[in-house]
Amino acid sequence: MSSFQGKTIVVVGATGVVGSGVCRAFLDAGAFVVGVSRSAEKLDALKQTLEVRPGEAFSTAVGDFKDDSTAALATAAIDKALAGRSIDHVVSAQGFVKFGPPATQTTAHQLQEALDDGLFVNFHAAKALLPGIKQRPASFTMVSGGLAHAPPPDAAMWMGTLKNAAVNAFTFGLAAETARDHVRVNTVCIHFGVAPIGGRQNQFGLPAERDTLGLAPAFLAIARGKQKGQVVCLTSWADVDALARS
Ligand SMILES: NC(=O)c1ccc[n+]([C@@H]2O[C@H](COP(=O)([O-])OP(=O)(O)OC[C@H]3O[C@@H](n4cnc5c(N)ncnc54)[C@H](OP(=O)(O)O)[C@@H]3O)[C@@H](O)[C@H]2O)c1
Repeated sequence: MSSFQGKTIVVVGATGVVGSGVCRAFLDAGAFVVGVSRSAEKLDALKQTLEVRPGEAFSTAVGDFKDDSTAALATAAIDKALAGRSIDHVVSAQGFVKFGPPATQTTAHQLQEALDDGLFVNFHAAKALLPGIKQRPASFTMVSGGLAHAPPPDAAMWMGTLKNAAVNAFTFGLAAETARDHVRVNTVCIHFGVAPIGGRQNQFGLPAERDTLGLAPAFLAIARGKQKGQVVCLTSWADVDALARS
């Protein structure tokens, strides 16, 4: 029997490249999956993409983690989709990387938007979903990118560097808060391009060696693993394979 049979997973950012693969992998593992998106239409399209089969337990919730008031509504929608189940694992795969002018030409508003779409969505998801699973053998996993670790290849991507570094640092903030709790907070920091299901390029148009279904085993490994308070850098697909075998 799969270790996720009977487990409940909430995937925020379910319609995205990373989130969709995570949903499919947990469904394949027999879990009850709640996919969260800001758009009911995108969730309908996701069901088609995932080719949800009869007997698979996929539920959806429309919600937006952009601020406190929308996060409260999103949490209520997730609670409804859970129908009384307790959450075992949360994957927050929200936001991407915003391009913009070089740093000194960026407006404060542009920077705020870039951090809203990546850092703050994770902040609000953590505030809403983490307290309820702190005392459970649960996991809360966020997603960032390798841009965090070095000057970006193009100055137009500097806000991606800041966003990813901020998510990684946020992991440590949550790790400190939950150090004595059961829940394990981690972030998967992806250093390469990932294509959507069945695709061969990532959103930058760069060739991706595998699609998101090839990445998803890393998330299952973290959910069943022992990592706690870590930024788990995946620098190559070999790291994904090693994690999946662990
Ligand atoms: N794809 C790659 O090649 C790659 C590589 C390295 C790192 N990463 C990192 O992986 C993470 C996810 O990237 P991705 O490629 O999956 O991006 P994506 O395809 O753009 O998906 C991100 C998802 O976030 C959701 N979202 C955005 N704002 C939200 C909000 N306020 N409330 C709820 N949901 C919200 C969106 O869903 P809705 O529009 O449906 O609400 C969207 O589907 C990012 O941190 C990215 O930097 C990705």
